Amino acid sequence: MSDRKPSPFKILLDSEAATLIQAAEDVYQIRFKNRAANAYLVRGSKRTIMIDVGLSTNYPHLLTCLNHVGVTPDRIDMVVLSHEHLDHIGAAWHFHGRTYVAAHRLAANKIMLRDDFSMLRKMFAEPNVPINIDIWLEEGNLIDLGNFRLNVMYTPGHTSACITLFEPDKGLLFASDTLMPGGVMGGVFGSGSIADYIQSLQRIKGLNSRILLSGHGRLSDTPQEDVRIAIQRSHALLEDTAQLFDALDARSNFDPIMQSVRDLNKLDD
Ligand SMILES: [Fe+2]
Repeated sequence: MSDRKPSPFKILLDSEAATLIQAAEDVYQIRFKNRAANAYLVRGSKRTIMIDVGLSTNYPHLLTCLNHVGVTPDRIDMVVLSHEHLDHIGAAWHFHGRTYVAAHRLAANKIMLRDDFSMLRKMFAEPNVPINIDIWLEEGNLIDLGNFRLNVMYTPGHTSACITLFEPDKGLLFASDTLMPGGVMGGVFGSGSIADYIQSLQRIKGLNSRILLSGHGRLSDTPQEDVRIAIQRSHALLEDTAQLFDALDARSNFDPIMQSVRDLNKLDD
């Protein structure tokens, strides 16, 4: 017998490929059953947006879920991408031409330059289709949907380009891979930094959040508890990393990087 309290969130649709869950009034989580990240729909009184859209191949299932709540792709004003990883953004190109696509400027740059290494294209076996970013976001931007006002927070760590969207009146925290339910860590990837990660979590801890709408996993109504655990874990990760670097010969770690630059520079000689 589990002592976990029942979820306060209502499942609206459960298919083989995805589950549609209501997080709050006019806020929906689309949770895919493969490796795709969660997608979110926020239907404001003036504007409707999505936050992340999952993998390219999941697009038909995304449409099914949107349809269920009476939304077609042409009704979506903006798709906001939380960071450059393709499990979050793969399907974004399907929205080209009818909706604006926005991301933090560092993510926008990587996506526009098609930096496959940063975007983890091999890991997710996504098609090599350009994704165009129309709006380059920064810390402090505000996305006004009428009855939702989403604050754009720059929260690097998982990568250099992660954003968190926070709706202060309703306490909605769209934290993508920076904070996950139960304090699960999203990991530190190529351009990320564990120290940045800790600082981002500290900032999130100071918010009056009530619902965590994360990039992976379930919705959570205990974001304060989640962030407390995540901060503990991130400090443990920092210590592990320090020990790892101590164990490695610093020279042998650094040499391949410098050699590759030397080889590259020779080309122009
Ligand atoms: Fe990610």
